Amino acid sequence: MRAKLIAGNWKMHLTLAGATALVEEFLGSYRPKPDVDVVVCPGFVALSKVRSLIKDTPLKLGGQDVFWEEEGAFTGKVSPAMLADVGADYCIVGHSEARGRFGGGQVDPNLLPFFVETHESLHQKIEALLYRAITPILCIGETLAERDAGRADAVVEQQIRGTLQGLEPSALFGVVLAYEPVWAIGTGKVCEAEEAGRMCGIVRETLRDLSDDDVATTARILYGGSLKPDNAYAVFQQPDVDGGLVGGASLNAASFAQIVHAA
Ligand code: PGA
Repeated sequence: MRAKLIAGNWKMHLTLAGATALVEEFLGSYRPKPDVDVVVCPGFVALSKVRSLIKDTPLKLGGQDVFWEEEGAFTGKVSPAMLADVGADYCIVGHSEARGRFGGGQVDPNLLPFFVETHESLHQKIEALLYRAITPILCIGETLAERDAGRADAVVEQQIRGTLQGLEPSALFGVVLAYEPVWAIGTGKVCEAEEAGRMCGIVRETLRDLSDDDVATTARILYGGSLKPDNAYAVFQQPDVDGGLVGGASLNAASFAQIVHAA
């Protein structure tokens, strides 16, 4: 049986003081379970602080993005070696907000070229993380326009194939994927539990086709997009959903604890 995984994506929120308060409050009510892993993904500058706060707990640490080179003249980038050094166990890759795909459309279209990811850049990031034994959490998901055009399944399949093609099953063993429909991220619009389950099933079958049975059976596939204490349980009941990538609700200790409890 696959252990569930709940990851909190703090995005560009919280100062060191805010991060400390959130972790301390969460740990106050957190009752670890052997079959539920919990990861927190703070902004880069809070990683070290959060590592020290969770060091004697089963909580795991994750980055929100990474660059693929180990070191060098790459101003503003953070390498897998740096993430490993600070004790990161996981790293989000290809989040829709890093791909310039926003559910709420908050960014001036003229600024969209600032957000660039390609299948190749994501592939490089995943290889570089695996080299450092950091588990990638690869995000995939369709926009509302793509869903309305009946292309949701195909888009998700293409994203997975485009990024993971060429990686050996041994490299992909234990990989985490997060199905996050862009239209449900930060919008309060929730994907119906059964549809979330169906899409996560497509993710698993794509992985099976691209790799092998072992990889597909052991991969943990998360749902993300407006997960809240009142909808998490139904989503986690779906056989192909192995947990969640939680944005907004992970910034509130009580809500995050309830989502973990639902898992
Ligand atoms: P949300 O974000 O829970 O705030 O919708 C999820 C995510 O972007 O990972």
